[in-house]
Amino acid sequence: MGHPILRQVAKEVEQVDSLQIKQLLTDMFDTMQALNGVGIAAPQIGVPLQVVMFEVADNPRYPHAKAIPFTVLINPRITPLSEERTEDFEGCLSVPGLRALIPRYRHIRYQALDPSGAIIEREVSDFHARVVQHECDHLKGILFPDRVEKPEFFGFESEMCETIIEFRSKMKG
Ligand code: NI
Repeated sequence: MGHPILRQVAKEVEQVDSLQIKQLLTDMFDTMQALNGVGIAAPQIGVPLQVVMFEVADNPRYPHAKAIPFTVLINPRITPLSEERTEDFEGCLSVPGLRALIPRYRHIRYQALDPSGAIIEREVSDFHARVVQHECDHLKGILFPDRVEKPEFFGFESEMCETIIEFRSKMKG
């Protein structure tokens, strides 16, 4: 956080099937894996293009989250399917060590191209919808601290462990 590329509006990818995009996807994947992240957006590795990827498979950082298949979205568009929003704690590889309670639309549709140029269209809810909204915010130059509505639920992960555990046990109950 603080690097100007993270605040830019990312450009649309014009040619999906290119060496540049293949290399970008490899670099994003390696970074996401190395940092044990759920998702990553191209601006986070210094490339202001509309590309995100995410995957949730028993990630120790998100023990309450359902698995999400590995997905690459190029030039994604999100449409909320209702006004309903839910809150949960989020972190970000570009804002290390911090967590905050962030409201997101509960149900969304997203459309994008996959790396072969085919159209992906999905309707998703809850954690999957949250991950997509977080990653696509990066393409608009928005970071999760910008969406904090309750400053008392914004802080260092190390200081908020109990708060987060308590919040999530209430969510399940
Ligand atoms: Ni992020």
